[in-house]
Amino acid sequence: MIRLGVNVDHVATVRQARRGHEPDPVTAAHEAELGGADVITVHLREDRRHVTDRDVRLLAQTLQTPMNLELAVAADVLALALEVRPRLATLVPERREEVTTEGGLDVAGQLESVRAAVARLAEAGVATSLFVDPDPRQLEAAARTGAAQVELHTGPFAHAWRAGAPDPELTRLRRAADTALELGLRLAIGHGLDYRNVVAVRGLPGLEEMHIGHAIVSRALYVGLREAVRQMKALLGPP
Ligand code: PXP
Repeated sequence: MIRLGVNVDHVATVRQARRGHEPDPVTAAHEAELGGADVITVHLREDRRHVTDRDVRLLAQTLQTPMNLELAVAADVLALALEVRPRLATLVPERREEVTTEGGLDVAGQLESVRAAVARLAEAGVATSLFVDPDPRQLEAAARTGAAQVELHTGPFAHAWRAGAPDPELTRLRRAADTALELGLRLAIGHGLDYRNVVAVRGLPGLEEMHIGHAIVSRALYVGLREAVRQMKALLGPP
């Protein structure tokens, strides 16, 4: 059974459009849990453009499901992760000018700083996942950091799927999934997944977890968040 991690950043984005109090991503996370989310994902960006420290602290206190905290390898966000100790910390690249995360983390190019972050999180009892492109060089580097898991970046696959030619990207993902398994890394995927393209990737070998935000929060506008999560869960398999 593949676990569904629901990313509620997009709810926080709507709140920040007015810099007000609603909609509250903490309430949304609880609704997502009631719809069957297995994990709640939030990205604490260095610029705090959507999710805030308050959100992360409240989620840590009130979630019934595990939290997956996405963060860059940067001192202040790492300090909050060490304070709240989510079940999983996913290290992601971050550029201030980007609209959303673009490209995977260059683990091979910054092996020592990633390794140090993974070690500090492990000391606090937090497992680490690395968000990487489906590239064997990055996966081999990921295995050398001591991280427990990788999350393969499915953004390029989602674009290719929309353009009607997903096969080369699907092949890349399948090969990367095999490599991750050979290296003893647990496997998650995420970015750009929706109610249609998810069917093409749910059978990846060894896949344990998916992280999906935009598609679920978008559908929630029409059907409500519980129902939107329930519909996505139904696509991931039994029961
Ligand atoms: N995984 C990671 C590492 C991400 O940065 C994001 C986007 O915040 C997601 C998954 C979810 O992507 P989407 O909102 O496109 O479903």
